[in-house]
Amino acid sequence: MSRAIATIAAASVAALLTACQPTAEAESSAQAVSGPHVVAATDIEAGRYIVLVGGCNDCHTPAYARTGGTEPPESEWLKGSTEGHTGPWGTSYGKNLRLTVAGMTEDEWVEKLATGSSLPPMPWPSVKAMSEADKRAVYRYIKALPGDAGQPAPAPLPPGVAPPGPPAV
Ligand code: HEC
Repeated sequence: MSRAIATIAAASVAALLTACQPTAEAESSAQAVSGPHVVAATDIEAGRYIVLVGGCNDCHTPAYARTGGTEPPESEWLKGSTEGHTGPWGTSYGKNLRLTVAGMTEDEWVEKLATGSSLPPMPWPSVKAMSEADKRAVYRYIKALPGDAGQPAPAPLPPGVAPPGPPAV
């Protein structure tokens, strides 16, 4: 091994060792979180995973459910849907969650997810059951999404009023 390569190898090992050292911050957040929660390299990555497996895009991102998740690109995720959910409650639209998080602090988001209620078919029991750490991760992920915040989703319609757009799948 040449001296240059040996130097690079030694530097890489040193960098790896440094990367493996838990920081004081990581230790304190690990101590603060108890109970089941998603663990990932970053909170944003954890939030992305929760949004994906939690099905949030099915109702909060237009075309997502219809196209089997191939559309739209992530830069358009969670901007709210124009595809209405119609039932005895009238028609509801998955809201623009980028605008929701833009208007509240992380603590307010945690509170909203813990106590929220709205028209169907928003799965509040599942969202309420999320650990606080996971609720915070989802907030951080939505805040970090690329692209602009978009427009508000259409307002809900009362029972008996036909929705103008396509229905949600
Ligand atoms: C089956 C469809 C559906 C799924 C899946 C879904 N939502 Fe919703 N969600 C809705 C609808 C519809 C509304 C708006 C209801 C209304 O207008 O009263 C809503 C509203 C919300 C609100 C209230 C927003 C505000 O500004 O008041 C939050 C927060 C929310 N959803 C978060 C989530 C998260 C996080 C996930 C994924 C874990 C998720 N939702 C999955 C349909 C869904």
